[in-house]
Amino acid sequence: MDAADVGADFGRVLKTQAELDQRLEELAQQIDQDYAGRELLLVGVLKGAVMVMADLSRRLHSKVTMDWMAVSSYGSGTKSSGVVRILKDLDTDIHGRDVLIVEDVVDSGLTLSWLLANLRSRGARSVEVAAMLRKPAAAKVDVDVRYVGFDIPNEFVVGYGLDFAEHYRNLPFVGTLAPQAYE
Ligand code: IMP
Ligand code: MG
Repeated sequence: MDAADVGADFGRVLKTQAELDQRLEELAQQIDQDYAGRELLLVGVLKGAVMVMADLSRRLHSKVTMDWMAVSSYGSGTKSSGVVRILKDLDTDIHGRDVLIVEDVVDSGLTLSWLLANLRSRGARSVEVAAMLRKPAAAKVDVDVRYVGFDIPNEFVVGYGLDFAEHYRNLPFVGTLAPQAYE
């Protein structure tokens, strides 16, 4: 899918596929260094983190395992409900494990701070976060994100896993929608 496929609802490209690729390579090198000699468990947050997980994990040289969680904090609109629900829990016992949460975007930070507390309470050895995007101006809680792809403006974005009403996850870049798309 590309911008032309979105048509009149398309806004502008914020991060190109090449920019995402290059940044992921840098993050992967950093993660490989930081976790040298340890076996990392990557926890992807469905559904938005699917693309980041696929691309980041393939750039890692470290031995990793992967698991997935699904949580819900958004309806079909563009505003956080502030309520986090587990829709799918981990299959893995993370007691004593080094866990890296893989996220698409940190917006208000509400989902992530809840998730961090939840996973830490399970007795993991460490729990850190890698997020492709972060919106500093949208933060409602302070969350320590160890690996950040890009800080972006406080706008609703789609693509590279991120959706608007479940659409546009398959855009290979990150972009905005035209205002009319929300009306
Ligand atoms: P937060 O709890 O506000 O930090 O955001 C929770 C989740 O909402 C993120 O992990 C995304 O899945 C989704 N989200 C936040 N901002 C956007 C956006 O701009 N586009 C699409 N999804 C978003
Ligand atoms: Mg997410």
